[in-house]
Amino acid sequence: MMSMNKQNTQHSQQRIGTRFASFVEKHPIWQNPLLQGCANNELEIDDYGFVISQHFYYSRGFTRLLSALMMQCDNDFYRVELSHNLWEEAGEEEQENCHSNLLRRMITETFGLENPDQTQFRDYTVQYFNECLNYLKNCDLVRAAAFLGWGTEGVVPRIYSYLFNGLVAKGVPEDELLYLSLHMECDDEHSEVIEAIALDACGGDTESHWLAIEEAIDHSLTLRDRYFKKLYEELQSQPLNTLVGQVTKAQPYADLTQLSGLYTHVDSQSGVPLYKNSNDQRVSFEVTRFNVASEVIDPRLLEIPVGKRNEKHRHAHESIFYVLSGEGVVHVGDKEITVKPGDLAYVPRWYDHYTANTGNALLKILALTDYGLTRCFANNTERSYRQQPSNVAV
Ligand SMILES: [Fe+2]
Ligand SMILES: [Fe+2]
Repeated sequence: MMSMNKQNTQHSQQRIGTRFASFVEKHPIWQNPLLQGCANNELEIDDYGFVISQHFYYSRGFTRLLSALMMQCDNDFYRVELSHNLWEEAGEEEQENCHSNLLRRMITETFGLENPDQTQFRDYTVQYFNECLNYLKNCDLVRAAAFLGWGTEGVVPRIYSYLFNGLVAKGVPEDELLYLSLHMECDDEHSEVIEAIALDACGGDTESHWLAIEEAIDHSLTLRDRYFKKLYEELQSQPLNTLVGQVTKAQPYADLTQLSGLYTHVDSQSGVPLYKNSNDQRVSFEVTRFNVASEVIDPRLLEIPVGKRNEKHRHAHESIFYVLSGEGVVHVGDKEITVKPGDLAYVPRWYDHYTANTGNALLKILALTDYGLTRCFANNTERSYRQQPSNVAV
């Protein structure tokens, strides 16, 4: 039968465990743009491939982190428990199921990246791992166990579920994601063992120990938060880097036939409908986009019926309007530019603008935009910044 003392200790551990769980819950890491990007389905499969192949550096070294804690642990019972965690990491009997091998397999099968060990690991990836390892080697046992318990193993199921759900939403079969689903199930048990080590090492209920635990949890989550932000920043700059690479290589495409879309006729049937709106008031228009191969210049056709206008809006891209037919007034900020066929009007980035058909025929404007540039920056799609109908002035 359990002694009163032992029962009291367990209750007190549960109470204090709740305190740390809510400390984790309130940490800013849960607003991290990478995790939010997964939740909002912003990432493409290749983006996940990049993130997870970088994460492989950490995963491959994870048993070193566990070993650093084990080295600090002076209680042989807990060292046995930690060896059990290591044994699971090692895939138990089957070496091919060792966790780092499961991840190697997933990186190759799901993302088509051969030789995960040859990944070009970023400096910030290596730095993140080294900071974790150095902290665990140099701090005291309470902090080491808190860092690796609540701050690491305890958050793995939630963090991996962002990646898992994001990949499933992209159509990846769940059975390819064994590495993730396995950790979503088993790391809770791992964290319980490690958290018990921290609480036992604290001895009596002293506030200074609890603060040390919170400091270590915060350090672990902050390092990871910073690392995920770096990964996300790189994801954002990748399209722009590709574009810059095309410009700076000073070479034409090897073969023009690789380019689909060297020619199009400018009418609404030849393109793809992009956007349209009409309401009871004066707004009525259609925008068509053309499938040409250009990287930066994105041509569109704007058509506005007699007596109508498009909605006031603004966006990241700049536009050159060339009037094909009809007459109208282009409103840019507080300027009014009267236009007829053959005229050209310039709409700078981010200026509120709209165009009204003031003539007796359909107003057709060829808008040459640099949307191919602005879409390289995350969220800079036209739709994101188009004013909501409720904000539209008529
Ligand atoms: Fe693992
Ligand atoms: Fe516009």
